[in-house]
Amino acid sequence: MTVRIGIIGAGVMGSDHARILHGSIAGATVTAVADPAQDRARAVARETGARTFSSAEELIASPFVDAVLIASHDSAHAKQVISCLEHRKPVLCEKPLAPTVSECQDLVDRQNALTGGIPLISVGFMRRFHPAYRELKDLLEEGAIGRPLMVLSSHRNVSSYPDGNSASTITNSGIHEIDVTAWLLNSPIESVSWHAPRNTALDGSRQDPQILHLRTADGVLTSVDVFLNARYGYEVRCEVVGERGTLELARPHLTTTNRAQTGSRSYTADWRPVFADAYRLQSQAWINALISGTRPALATAEDALTAARVAQALVDSMNSAGATITINHHQPSADESHAGGEHERTLTHV
Ligand SMILES: NC(=O)c1ccc[n+]([C@@H]2O[C@H](COP(=O)([O-])OP(=O)(O)OC[C@H]3O[C@@H](n4cnc5c(N)ncnc54)[C@H](O)[C@@H]3O)[C@@H](O)[C@H]2O)c1
Repeated sequence: MTVRIGIIGAGVMGSDHARILHGSIAGATVTAVADPAQDRARAVARETGARTFSSAEELIASPFVDAVLIASHDSAHAKQVISCLEHRKPVLCEKPLAPTVSECQDLVDRQNALTGGIPLISVGFMRRFHPAYRELKDLLEEGAIGRPLMVLSSHRNVSSYPDGNSASTITNSGIHEIDVTAWLLNSPIESVSWHAPRNTALDGSRQDPQILHLRTADGVLTSVDVFLNARYGYEVRCEVVGERGTLELARPHLTTTNRAQTGSRSYTADWRPVFADAYRLQSQAWINALISGTRPALATAEDALTAARVAQALVDSMNSAGATITINHHQPSADESHAGGEHERTLTHV
């Protein structure tokens, strides 16, 4: 069986996913692509032999599409996922599932309202498939460093997207750190606080860098710096400090040069080479599950809702001068404006 995939959004990620699904994934073929930027859609179509559609809705309804991969702008995700649910088509949506808690909750509710069976929504938190993160998680679970106590992480980009702001640093980029931290430690994030050093002069549109503190239910404290205009290269760091040692992701530099009594290393310009295996393994796991009719091992809509709650709590902390915000994962959210209800605020400035 070959699963016919329609790609929505033919930008950086959509064209990369199309290339991977077309060239490296057994059991998948790319048959359709939609993007309002027709030149981008046509470029993907040329590479894969897919047909182009003028709208996401037409692509989702097409009889030539069995399953959909969404890599459009964050703000378009919810509407497109709803359309996939209405057509009962499995969908792999890039992170974030949607930028707000209320939209994620709505998608979880709509999926639950469909009668039983395997969930249709998977979410592209691909770090769960990165071999180095998986090894780190396995070693933690084997007790290689005893009980974890704290995690020190960094998320560094060369430069930020032009249309973002301080909140989207959290909901778009920080969301990876939120998901992978809870997954790695196998414990939900229960409280957060947001901190800011002085701002880089290179981005007037947002606070950059930001420091996010995440405390899991088992008491492990994670500190992540998210620095979108770090300039020197793309880099993700993660060191888990335990009672009997530390575990650290290998640094994702390309080469180390030693010459003239000096050592130096080169970095990639973005995330795609660093996480190439993760994207491929995630896509293969999705296609295998679709073919075998089993539950995909990818992040679920519920995982995305959980991450969105934590992201919103961090935005609330940002808007409360770094107050510690406690998250109640059991309470359904009212809306993303949080006019009371979902978080308990502890106005401790740390
Ligand atoms: N998992 C990851 O590591 C990772 C990395 C980067 C981006 N992302 C996510 O992937 C998605 C795409 O990011 P990108 O970097 O490719 O952005 P991009 O701007 O390069 O591409 C987005 C594309 O979507 C198209 N688009 C916008 N609205 C649309 C709509 N309504 N219907 C169809 N197409 C539409 C745009 O024309 C553009 O071509 C975002 O949600 C982003 O958060 C994930």
